[in-house]
Amino acid sequence: MFGNTLTLLAATDALLAATNSSYFRPNSTGIKLQNGFERVYIQPFGNHGIRVRASLSRDPTGNEPSALLDPPLEGPGGNEGLTHDINLPFQGSASLRNGNLIAQVSLGVLSFLRAERNGSNTLLTSEYIDAKALPARYYVQDFRSSSFAARFAFTSTPDEQFYGTGQQACCKDHSVNKKGQVVDLINYNSHVTLPVYMSNKGYLQFFNMPSQGRIEFSPLRTRFETDEATVVDYYFTTAEPGDYDALQEQYTAVTGRQPAPPDFMLGYQQSKLRYYNESQVLNLARRFHDEKVNVSLIVIDFFAWKFQGDWSFDPQFFPDPAGMAATVKRLTGAEMMVSLWPSVEDLSVNYLMLQENGLLATTRDGPGVQDSFKGVYTRLVDSTNPAAREFIFISRREYTTFGSTKQMAAHWANLLRIVRPINVMNFGASVHLFLDGQTISSIPYARSFAQYFIGTQEATGKIYPWLHQQAIEEGLRNLTGVDTKATSCQYMSLTRSTFAGGQRFCSYLWSGDTDSRFDVLLQQITSGVSVTASGISAWTLDIGGFAGLDIDTAEGRELFVRWFGMGVFLPFTRVHGYVANFRFGFVEIRHNIIEPGVVISQGTPFLLMPIPPWSYGEENFIIIKKYIELRYQLVPYVKKLFEMLQKTGKTIMRPLYFDFSHSDPFIAEATGVNNPLIVHQYMFGPRLLVAPVGEPNATMKEVYLPRLPGPLVAQKLTWTHWWSEKEFGAGGKFINISAHLDEIPVFYLGNKEDILQGSF
Ligand SMILES: *[C@@H]1O[C@H](CO)[C@@H](O)[C@H](O)[C@H]1NC(C)=O
Ligand SMILES: *[C@@H]1O[C@H](CO)[C@@H](O)[C@H](O)[C@H]1NC(C)=O
Ligand SMILES: *[C@@H]1O[C@H](CO)[C@@H](O)[C@H](O)[C@H]1NC(C)=O
Ligand SMILES: *[C@@H]1O[C@H](CO)[C@@H](O)[C@H](O)[C@H]1NC(C)=O
Ligand SMILES: *[C@@H]1O[C@H](CO)[C@@H](O)[C@H](O)[C@H]1NC(C)=O
Ligand SMILES: *[C@@H]1O[C@H](CO)[C@@H](O)[C@H](O)[C@H]1NC(C)=O
Ligand SMILES: *[C@@H]1O[C@H](CO)[C@@H](O)[C@H](O)[C@H]1NC(C)=O
Repeated sequence: MFGNTLTLLAATDALLAATNSSYFRPNSTGIKLQNGFERVYIQPFGNHGIRVRASLSRDPTGNEPSALLDPPLEGPGGNEGLTHDINLPFQGSASLRNGNLIAQVSLGVLSFLRAERNGSNTLLTSEYIDAKALPARYYVQDFRSSSFAARFAFTSTPDEQFYGTGQQACCKDHSVNKKGQVVDLINYNSHVTLPVYMSNKGYLQFFNMPSQGRIEFSPLRTRFETDEATVVDYYFTTAEPGDYDALQEQYTAVTGRQPAPPDFMLGYQQSKLRYYNESQVLNLARRFHDEKVNVSLIVIDFFAWKFQGDWSFDPQFFPDPAGMAATVKRLTGAEMMVSLWPSVEDLSVNYLMLQENGLLATTRDGPGVQDSFKGVYTRLVDSTNPAAREFIFISRREYTTFGSTKQMAAHWANLLRIVRPINVMNFGASVHLFLDGQTISSIPYARSFAQYFIGTQEATGKIYPWLHQQAIEEGLRNLTGVDTKATSCQYMSLTRSTFAGGQRFCSYLWSGDTDSRFDVLLQQITSGVSVTASGISAWTLDIGGFAGLDIDTAEGRELFVRWFGMGVFLPFTRVHGYVANFRFGFVEIRHNIIEPGVVISQGTPFLLMPIPPWSYGEENFIIIKKYIELRYQLVPYVKKLFEMLQKTGKTIMRPLYFDFSHSDPFIAEATGVNNPLIVHQYMFGPRLLVAPVGEPNATMKEVYLPRLPGPLVAQKLTWTHWWSEKEFGAGGKFINISAHLDEIPVFYLGNKEDILQGSF
């Protein structure tokens, strides 16, 4: 009987793996490995996934900051606490299987294997052991608290490729394959590294830990380091090698799926540092109207407030925000967005209330100052504290709690009526110096002495931005009555930083303050596809680069137009930045002291020039209008991409290895060495190949057309040049294509009408 059952199980097992149509239920609820004071829990989690938690002397509480959805959206596991049916002693051995993933503990060492269709198992990685190596699970404790630092090491091979790890957006990192790199897990401007990566061996690993640290991708060993934690917590999942969509589907099922953006987010977004007052904004809208240029969103950037932390408009410059928004809407149809920073200065109307209620992040010593910007010291609202999250989005109930004033209620009511999306400067505690004469030196990253409600900067700092997104999310959901299960958004926030799983919010990430240079334009592609390979497709950038665009030069104007062409083929098409103009300088101390024409004594003089489409000369304006029009034509396609993203986590901006590493060995090989010709091209959805021009004065562009996979060839799909309709067959070759300023190199697969209608 027993023997029969086993045979039956094995047979079913092989059958299920073979058909892959139904799911192999986990054959264990979990393994607990007790090794002296160390304990390791290994449990099934999501489809083909396993979660591992390791702690010292005590069990995980379950209250550690986490980006895992528990229970997951799909697959087994979840709400299981520390359930396990296998107890292993030191040097014990056991295995558990969930779907096609097997976790095998052999003499206390953990390995992950994939169950193949033919019944064999493939080793993916295991804890790294060697005679003289540090133990694979290595901890450092200082015994003043229950936390520790840890280094977890896993085997790798020199030819393995790793993708993802979030965003390293400026300015020299042109890598898609991270093998050989050290990735610093710390937030700062443009640097949104995420502890999640995919391997070309067919697995994804995610460290569910918002601690600072690093990942080392060395030849034989991949090592994750956390500076401070109470539990080492990671998730592992597998798919067939090259099936990155499956890895994304499984990963987003445990960390969240992007709700679909509202339509107005998919058009042209106009932002600039910055519009100072209502009349500027209204003039802008009028000009869009008169020029008959479509615009869907207009952003009012920072210092529209009186004091940092007011989270409202300065009535002197924006006396009637609701009226302004209504006029903008009437003239252009555009919605409005406003910048809100999480920094609070002591003159802010909210400061005392936040301070008295302990809702500001603090520091290990001193008064809790975390930043210095534009002449004032500021503190951070502690979005890791639920009470602070509520306060940020104060509702009637919170008014009573905090005894707030009617005036504030009015502010918020106004703000919320007009401002659905919010642009958040939220990479966490930092100190930086701008042209403001402060004596603090420039340290533009999160300082280790910051202390949040949920823990220290070292242990939890990387999730600050994510929790700030959550504050905005919860507040807007509460206000609009949209429940948390909604799969589409009525609003979006724009965020400068995030953490793994940030894709669950009605929010999109941009690459922060980039430099206006051709090489940075190309670099943004590798950033973008690395972010999307980390589960976050709602991504964009500053078209034209944030800093240093000189529109007085032909090259500066050309760069802007090239960048604009690329911006059409991104999830969001958003212009932002300030434009250098060397004829003038200006001094800006606070928002209300703006003196165009005054040359500042230090630094590069610059003036905030107009940045909208008509600012780059008549010829370029014609081209930009053409690109804006194309974007509006593509909206149905982009909507379809977001629908697929919502349903299955299918990535929008796609590195070439996603779709072609099976069919085209050159793609796999070129990705391995980060060949610029390959990593600077990408697929925008499954049908469009984009190869932006990244050098001045180009008239031609060398483009690689990947060899199409069999099923696409069977459908008789070919690469067709978007502009000339010239066909190039099934790919597998370089071609030279004309690349006029108004014709960004783009190739499509299938029928163009279908693409434009979003039906494919
Ligand atoms: C679960 O399945 C794996 C792989 O087939 C096997 O090695 C292991 O012994 C099974 N474990 C249990 C508890 O049945
Ligand atoms: C089973 O399939 C795997 C993956 O395709 C392959 O690597 C392995 O060689 C196959 N084993 C046998 C015995 O056919
Ligand atoms: C708005 O700001 C611009 C630029 O500083 C200025 O020229 C203009 O006078 C301001 N308008 C009002 C009504 O304040
Ligand atoms: C939103 O509403 C829920 C349920 O009432 C509450 O728990 C939560 O704190 C609110 N969040 C915010 C940010 O207002
Ligand atoms: C402007 O946008 C609308 C949709 O909002 C579209 O129908 C129209 O074709 C667009 N016009 C141009 C010139 O792009
Ligand atoms: C681009 O062309 C302009 C005008 O012919 C020339 O002045 C400039 O040096 C060229 N730039 C590069 C990088 O070749
Ligand atoms: C494209 O043109 C460049 C410059 O003339 C040349 O070096 C390259 O070989 C050409 N590539 C192809 C595929 O023809």
